Amino acid sequence: MANLAPDYRWTLVQILRILSVVSVLVDAASCDACDERVSGPSLLQRHRDVEPRPSLAFCKTHKTGGSTLAGIFFRLAELHNLSIMMPSCEEKTRLGDPFAFPGQYNVDLHGPPAHQFDMILHHAILNASGFASYLKPTPFFVSILREPKAQVASTYNFYRIKFGKWNSTKEYLASLETQLEKASKGRRVRQFINFQSYDLGFYEAGGMPNSTSSEVSEWIASLDKTFSFPSAGLMLITEYFDEGLALLKGRLNVALPALTYTIQKDYQHNESLSYEDLNDTEMSWVLKHAANVDMQLYHHFNRTFAKVWSKRGSSVDSDLRALQDANAALSKDCEATPPGPLCEKFATSDPDRLLYANLFRARQGLKECNDTAKH
Ligand SMILES: *[C@@H]1O[C@H](CO)[C@@H](O)[C@H](O)[C@H]1NC(C)=O
Ligand SMILES: *[C@@H]1O[C@H](CO)[C@@H](O)[C@H](O)[C@H]1NC(C)=O
Ligand SMILES: *[C@@H]1O[C@H](CO)[C@@H](O)[C@H](O)[C@H]1NC(C)=O
Ligand SMILES: *[C@@H]1O[C@H](CO)[C@@H](O)[C@H](O)[C@H]1NC(C)=O
Ligand SMILES: *[C@@H]1O[C@H](CO)[C@@H](O)[C@H](O)[C@H]1NC(C)=O
Ligand SMILES: *[C@@H]1O[C@H](CO)[C@@H](O)[C@H](O)[C@H]1NC(C)=O
Ligand SMILES: *[C@@H]1O[C@H](CO)[C@@H](O)[C@H](O)[C@H]1NC(C)=O
Ligand SMILES: *[C@@H]1O[C@H](CO)[C@@H](O)[C@H](O)[C@H]1NC(C)=O
Repeated sequence: MANLAPDYRWTLVQILRILSVVSVLVDAASCDACDERVSGPSLLQRHRDVEPRPSLAFCKTHKTGGSTLAGIFFRLAELHNLSIMMPSCEEKTRLGDPFAFPGQYNVDLHGPPAHQFDMILHHAILNASGFASYLKPTPFFVSILREPKAQVASTYNFYRIKFGKWNSTKEYLASLETQLEKASKGRRVRQFINFQSYDLGFYEAGGMPNSTSSEVSEWIASLDKTFSFPSAGLMLITEYFDEGLALLKGRLNVALPALTYTIQKDYQHNESLSYEDLNDTEMSWVLKHAANVDMQLYHHFNRTFAKVWSKRGSSVDSDLRALQDANAALSKDCEATPPGPLCEKFATSDPDRLLYANLFRARQGLKECNDTAKH
């Protein structure tokens, strides 16, 4: 795997070339940026080494756009040579999940917490003090929540198509029912029942699928502190993904081109995959029994996000427009056959790809992983 080094240098050159193209597109879309380009250094240059960037504690939720967001953060880390707390080969893409963060394998690999990393980006059950103990001061917390109906449909389809976990909606519901029964007898809930709350540490905090809404509110209040914008963090909402990125741009102190993205793992709009919907009766049942906490969580943070958005700074709207223009240019490039150079980078920078993950491992002096490691 020593041959990664030249590859990586070549890739960086390529990225910088791509970024400069995106940068031009972005600049053309925003008059603010036009002025800045004439009067001073490029956005990218201005942002380099000017102000410190906070470290980033990203709690990656399942089936919410979390991989797309993680991809953006990975490319940011690549661009700015930021260190990522990479999972051990045994854990592959997870930091402890479905057990507590960070998991023994990762402790063995990285040692005890010593505020050593710039970013946490992999699946891990949120433990704010645990995350902070491995991150440089002072971390900014980010996570993302999706409207529960859409998240449930996506979960069902993803695990059915990719892992053959269920073969019908009927079997999916039956498996949820079995898990709920076990939970009522004191068995720990691992996944799928309030999947987003699970990721955010609800069960670790003592929550149960049958917790009362006031118990849930109490837990949500603790998250409110962790994700309070702009001082502590931001809870993004999938339905307002670009708005969330526009808010993050200023807070994370990054240049806009680095936030450009294409959507990852979109099963719903992929015609070669047989995406299925739950019927109304099934969906109501799931929302009531297996997404009850997620519903409360989502509604709370959807309101919080609307409040944050209504108080946004004056530059956020032009950032949003510029981001959407850059994304449109990227999509166009990806739809071309063969895909154009803007697109090329995004196809290979999937954080779940071993090659891309190993690029970060190599950079940080860690052993590279191979596919034979046990999952
Ligand atoms: C990137 O960061 C690593 C530490 O994580 C450091 O050893 C290396 O020198 C840095 N490389 C560059 C090009 O700054
Ligand atoms: C969270 O991490 C801290 C270490 O910072 C640890 O003491 C605590 O037990 C963890 N909590 C859970 C629920 O895992
Ligand atoms: C679906 O899965 C269930 C349980 O795993 C199994 O009993 C059933 O035969 C499967 N049905 C089909 C059509 O594959
Ligand atoms: C919904 O699906 C269930 C099977 O999970 C089936 O029994 C029920 O008849 C369906 N309801 C409607 C309205 O199609
Ligand atoms: C939830 O279920 C557990 C286990 O069956 C039970 O001990 C607890 O009292 C229930 N809580 C509520 C609020 O119903
Ligand atoms: C659709 O899914 C197939 C099979 O997983 C995959 O090969 C293809 O790249 C996907 N298409 C898009 C546009 O993502
Ligand atoms: C989320 O908040 C927005 C803005 O306040 C509102 O228009 C929308 O209906 C909410 N979404 C849901 C699913 O409640
Ligand atoms: C793959 O990784 C495992 C565990 O790290 C190691 O034991 C094995 O030798 C590696 N295999 C190859 C072909 O590199």
